[in-house]
Amino acid sequence: MALNLLVLFQFISITIARDIVFPPAQRNYGPQQQHPIIGFGEIDVSVANFAGLTTFANVPYVHCLEKLEEGKRVDGTEAEKFDIAFLGAPFDTAVTGRPGARYGPGGIRSGSRRIEPDAAWSIYTGENSYKSWAKIVDCGDAPLTILDNTVALEQLDKAHTIIADRATNSSEYPIPRIIVLGGDHTTTLSALRSTYNKWGQVSVIHFDSHIDTWDPKVLGGGISHYAGVNHGTFLHIAHEEGLIRNTSIHAGIRAPVARSKGDVRNDIRCGFEIVTARDLDLFGTTGIIQKLKDRVGKSKVYISVDIDVLDPAFAPATGTSEVGGWTTRELLTIIDGLTGLEVVGADVVEVAPIYDTAGETTVLAAAEVANSLLTLMVQQPVKPA
Ligand SMILES: *[C@@H]1O[C@H](CO)[C@@H](O)[C@H](O)[C@H]1NC(C)=O
Ligand SMILES: *[C@@H]1O[C@H](CO)[C@@H](O)[C@H](O)[C@H]1NC(C)=O
Repeated sequence: MALNLLVLFQFISITIARDIVFPPAQRNYGPQQQHPIIGFGEIDVSVANFAGLTTFANVPYVHCLEKLEEGKRVDGTEAEKFDIAFLGAPFDTAVTGRPGARYGPGGIRSGSRRIEPDAAWSIYTGENSYKSWAKIVDCGDAPLTILDNTVALEQLDKAHTIIADRATNSSEYPIPRIIVLGGDHTTTLSALRSTYNKWGQVSVIHFDSHIDTWDPKVLGGGISHYAGVNHGTFLHIAHEEGLIRNTSIHAGIRAPVARSKGDVRNDIRCGFEIVTARDLDLFGTTGIIQKLKDRVGKSKVYISVDIDVLDPAFAPATGTSEVGGWTTRELLTIIDGLTGLEVVGADVVEVAPIYDTAGETTVLAAAEVANSLLTLMVQQPVKPA
């Protein structure tokens, strides 16, 4: 009898449960977002353009490196035009510390998945970089060999040249600008060659814990010319190639140097001034922003962000960690404070996701840095001289 009652009770609760009418549900709709369904039976999946593949901030993918004839594809159709392009540089065979930055582009894109162009209005500025004048795309990664650094850098040089030669969507600003997702820091050399070809010499604002102007004879030990081209010498080489101005500046430096005086003397020769990590304690973010702006003046600027400028607490996933660095908030405040500078190229490099936390600490930070660099480019469009 008791059993029968229980069965009966269960039957009643199932019947009642069946009768429950749920309110209009939230359902997975876009790649990240949940949009309320507008009426049952009207599920529209056509807006989910980028649900399949992960691009930076869900912007459209464009095959930027395809062969074109006067802006047209081989089949005669018009190629996409864009103003700002993200480009992955999966290269890490010129590091002196932990490898793994070849997976950086994918990692940074993962970290950016929550950025939704339609809902990216900044709480600080009220602006949305994705809803402004610029057409923003992701070009995917440059194909770079992992077996020969010389060839890989030539491949990257060529990818930069092709993208910088593409037509812009804007009729006023004819040169597309590129934001590189690295990749070890050697990849910045290709980017600086590319900006030099289009814009002339640039001042470099270099966020890093290391100076990276080491003489190739010092870092690499002068073993070979090949060994001398690495992620700690590329700024020295950029100076030798005449790509950068003597109004360049480092920010966040704290790693030791190899020679008591020689490295800093060489750094000044390469055109740099040093803002140390601890300068932030003395001058605050406002003071650092002013120092950087004063140094570069009205010149065109390339901003390179080695993610190891952050303290390992905020960016553990990198090759050459140095403790005593800036927080993510401090770095973002400083980068955002550079608004108004004519930024003609930028990168976020040295992101090695295999050392990241389960919470994706580093790739989230790197994605936000890339987002801030994009914002600087949108806020200040640049025309060639
Ligand atoms: C791109 O160009 C078209 C045609 O001139 C224009 O309508 C559009 O607003 C431009 N900007 C973006 C972001 O697509
Ligand atoms: C940069 O070089 C120019 C020309 O050689 C010189 O006049 C100027 O003082 C230098 N500036 C800095 C900041 O070193």
